[in-house]
Amino acid sequence: MEQFVFFGGKGGVGKTTVSSAYALKCAEAGLDTLVVSTDPAHSTSDVFDQDFGDEPTAVEGREGLWAMEIDPDEEVERHMGEIRRRMNEQVSAAIVNEIDRQIELAHRTPGAYEAALFDRFIEVMRNADDYDRVVFDTSPTGGTLRLLALPDFLEGWIERLVEKRAKSVDLFEKAAIGDKEARRKIDEDPLIAHLQGRKAKFEFAGRALREDAAFFLVLNPDELSIRETERAVAEMAEQDLEVEGFVVNKVTPAPDDDEQGRGATWLRDRVETERERIDEIRREFDEPVVAEIESRVREVKGDLLAAVADELAIDTEPAPAEA
Ligand SMILES: Nc1ncnc2c1ncn2[C@@H]1O[C@H](COP(=O)(O)OP(=O)(O)OP(=O)(O)O)[C@@H](O)[C@H]1O
Ligand SMILES: [Mg+2]
Repeated sequence: MEQFVFFGGKGGVGKTTVSSAYALKCAEAGLDTLVVSTDPAHSTSDVFDQDFGDEPTAVEGREGLWAMEIDPDEEVERHMGEIRRRMNEQVSAAIVNEIDRQIELAHRTPGAYEAALFDRFIEVMRNADDYDRVVFDTSPTGGTLRLLALPDFLEGWIERLVEKRAKSVDLFEKAAIGDKEARRKIDEDPLIAHLQGRKAKFEFAGRALREDAAFFLVLNPDELSIRETERAVAEMAEQDLEVEGFVVNKVTPAPDDDEQGRGATWLRDRVETERERIDEIRREFDEPVVAEIESRVREVKGDLLAAVADELAIDTEPAPAEA
């Protein structure tokens, strides 16, 4: 299995549960594992009954397991502050207020939220050398995936900018400060450096997601969930990202044969409907169903987590060492 493993899926299907269970499974197999969640509701903290923040923290009583929770709102705030700071350095005070207003507006769009979060994901992936496996309890979708095209787009932009700057440095400064100095000025240009930094960052992200990451989608055995999953698979395919398998969660357990009465009848009907949906999942998608996890009576945490981990047929083998 690749170093980075993502569990995507629509709201409430069980991403955090399945990610935590898989991370536990990896840790128990002897891998140093980090589970990263982006849930504003802090569900990873619920699962392990321990508070986690923005930095990896060892999970108590679980050897080799660390967890962190990225708060998307904080991430957007930070992103916004960063852009503002850079703007303030480069434009006159007169237009800073207007820019502030624009930035504020831009960050209210859902895309900005995703973008800020994705930036943080990239940072986590870039600094993951200490871990054999990093498990993300969400997967990039729509707008975020389109950010992967950014390096190509920035490439042309940077080239044109460098050319322009080189020309102006040439004209106005070469005579006064000499050739060497002029070159140094272009290299130090903060705007070009920033764009080059962005480009390198997203290039890394594209490579890491295509070469070092595996994607699983979590879904429930119902029509809506299946349709959403079809969309997610198509979106990922557009960016050359392949889903490795599906985790069907919250599957209703069947009653024993001798059980009678309304409750048992309801359960049997429900089980049959879900069976049809699971058959549909197996039929319609190319990749395998790697787990069917039954609905538990209670939230999945504590000992239940290990039981769910056992039901996941996803290997934990470490990624092969790089050549
Ligand atoms: N197999 C299961 N049996 C019983 N409860 C489950 C099961 N799987 C998940 N749950 C419960 O369902 C709720 C939602 O699960 P979870 O938080 O894992 O979903 P999620 O996809 O991460 O949600 P969100 O999109 O809000 O982040 C939780 O209370 C969790 O304990
Ligand atoms: Mg969650």
